Amino acid sequence: MSDENTMKILVVGSGGREHALVWSLIHTSQRPLKVFCAPGNAGITELAGTVDIDAIDIGGLADFAATQEIDLTIVGGEAALAAGIADEFARRNLLIAAPTRNAARLESSKSFAKSFMTRHGIPTAHHRTVASLEAARECLRSGEFGNAETPVVVKADGLAAGKGVHVTASHAEALLRVEELMNANAHPASSDISSAVVVLEEKLEGAEVSLLLWTDGRDYILMPPARDHKRIGENDTGANTGGMGVITSHDILDAATLEEIKRTIVEPTLHGAREEGFAFRGVLYIGLMLTAGGARVIEYNARPGDPETQAILVRLKSDLVEIFQAVAHGRLREVNVEWSEDASVCVVLAARGYPNKPEIGHVIEGLETFDVHDDVRVFHAATTRRDNQWLTAGGRVLGVTATAAHLDDALAKCYDAVARIKWDGMNYRRDIGRFKGDDAVAPRKKA
Ligand code: AMP
Ligand code: GLY
Repeated sequence: MSDENTMKILVVGSGGREHALVWSLIHTSQRPLKVFCAPGNAGITELAGTVDIDAIDIGGLADFAATQEIDLTIVGGEAALAAGIADEFARRNLLIAAPTRNAARLESSKSFAKSFMTRHGIPTAHHRTVASLEAARECLRSGEFGNAETPVVVKADGLAAGKGVHVTASHAEALLRVEELMNANAHPASSDISSAVVVLEEKLEGAEVSLLLWTDGRDYILMPPARDHKRIGENDTGANTGGMGVITSHDILDAATLEEIKRTIVEPTLHGAREEGFAFRGVLYIGLMLTAGGARVIEYNARPGDPETQAILVRLKSDLVEIFQAVAHGRLREVNVEWSEDASVCVVLAARGYPNKPEIGHVIEGLETFDVHDDVRVFHAATTRRDNQWLTAGGRVLGVTATAAHLDDALAKCYDAVARIKWDGMNYRRDIGRFKGDDAVAPRKKA
């Protein structure tokens, strides 16, 4: 039934981020669209055709795009990028708005990203890459990471879905974590992430900001800065997760700091990538720490963030299809992107056990009551449908997203909506948008 003017789009991935991408593509497009999502989730089936092909089956995805004559493919997650989806699509002349495998190393290898930043003078935490426990011990003993009581951050080199990072309180704890990561294969019970190479990093203090942008390799367009809340527990306690909630609001970054970040971080990154022969095309996500000494890069991601994407796209007023087309065609210079002035928030509803062993299969109640309010949206991250019921199907299950002129109103609206949803073991942070960083909550010293 599709007429000639209908554009066919494939979104690769299955989380809340992909639900938000699909919704935003349809919501902002000036042209009729037919959207597919591979593999998608139950929530996404309400908007798009879901296709049972795994996000890392890049041959299968390219076959699908070729036979269905997909006009444009957009990628949510890092695994497909690291597997080389953009290279495979380019080889087969299929249009895709995503970075190549080489460009995606900015995310897929922390040691590569750190040495890239060093080569291009991009401000980041002091670091050392080590390939043995002995090397880690020697490095800590040398004094370059302070004394034995100095906090050190320990990171697995490769992709770990946010679970390969340990912010430790002392050198002894850091060594324990290095040992766990390096020996995970021998002792699978101690850690489910294994890494032969580990990055040691100075611990940075300050507020975190997620700065996302579209780039065609040369030009770029910034999205509204966002603040993620990565720890599982309130007041930023407990394990690191993929992200438990995000806000966007005008006061996350002031204009002068943003200018400094563009000059010292964004532009040198895009320029450095071009210079090293892997012009970055797609969405670049720069994780920043605003330290007393200026902004520093914590990490790069070669893809849109989750749940950043949910909170950002509800503010987009321009045609998202046109933006991604311009990214893929190298014509971003011709595009003008407009945003609503609102603040926004996305609160993640997670399953008991997340981020380690989430319980799945619980019936979700309250979802039927949604869909009427334009300024509250529930994006599905991991749900299935059975006998007319919604069931939980993963760790992060839903992302409740709201907008309002002021952050406080967006938060109130969002938490009102959260209160209407429940399942056995539903867990979420009640301090999204309230917790700003260690400095902001440090107890006042008594005079
Ligand atoms: P990453 O996967 O590198 O973004 O790390 C996950 C989270 O760990 C970050 O969002 C920070 O909250 C924390 N983290 C990572 N590196 C550092 C660092 N050098 N100093 C302080 N916190 C860090
Ligand atoms: N929310 C953090 C991430 O997408 O990596």
